[in-house]
Amino acid sequence: MAMSLNGMIASKNGDEDFLSDANWESFRKLAEKHGCFIIGRKTYEAVQKWSDYNFDDIDAKLKIVVSGDKNLKLEPPFLLATSPDDAVKKAETMNFENVILTGGSTINGAFITENLIDEVIINIEPAILGNGVPLFAENEFEKRLSFIESIKITDDILQVRYKVNKT
Ligand SMILES: NC(=O)c1ccc[n+]([C@@H]2O[C@H](COP(=O)([O-])OP(=O)(O)OC[C@H]3O[C@@H](n4cnc5c(N)ncnc54)[C@H](OP(=O)(O)O)[C@@H]3O)[C@@H](O)[C@H]2O)c1
Repeated sequence: MAMSLNGMIASKNGDEDFLSDANWESFRKLAEKHGCFIIGRKTYEAVQKWSDYNFDDIDAKLKIVVSGDKNLKLEPPFLLATSPDDAVKKAETMNFENVILTGGSTINGAFITENLIDEVIINIEPAILGNGVPLFAENEFEKRLSFIESIKITDDILQVRYKVNKT
């Protein structure tokens, strides 16, 4: 995920104009390394309308879209999952060891609440937004993390990685 310094992943109207292209490149590398990523239905629909790049440009074997709509029509390599648990099971069935969950806010909140996130990888964009879409939608959870590493991926963007403690 890429966020402002104060934890916003999109502006109030849903655009990501404050985020640099380097964040997409960083996501692309991770998704292509692991071969599978998961997104919420709203993120899928929003990003597929972008003009510069979209999820079709990612060379991944499996692209899971989570939606409660069982009739949602998707073309391979996009695959429908009807819950976070279903998404993880589908990736496991196809033998993916690691899967990149890449938002948005609602799906992130659902996965963390269901204890389905092992590691958090965040790119911090040097911006502060007075309002917007938060990294995790409000829900009943509190997680403790262990620091893994931080990497400067451009002159401006810091990537931080944390393990989610499962105790
Ligand atoms: N900065 C970043 O790194 C980044 C990354 C991704 C997205 N974003 C931004 O995040 C925003 C979208 O976030 P969002 O919170 O509005 O939407 P979202 O999380 O992308 O998608 C929400 C949808 O996912 C499905 N869903 C969520 N939880 C579910 C569950 N437990 N079971 C079944 N389906 C579930 C539902 O689809 P149905 O309504 O079809 O049932 C729900 O409406 C966009 O503005 C996007 O640009 C930013």
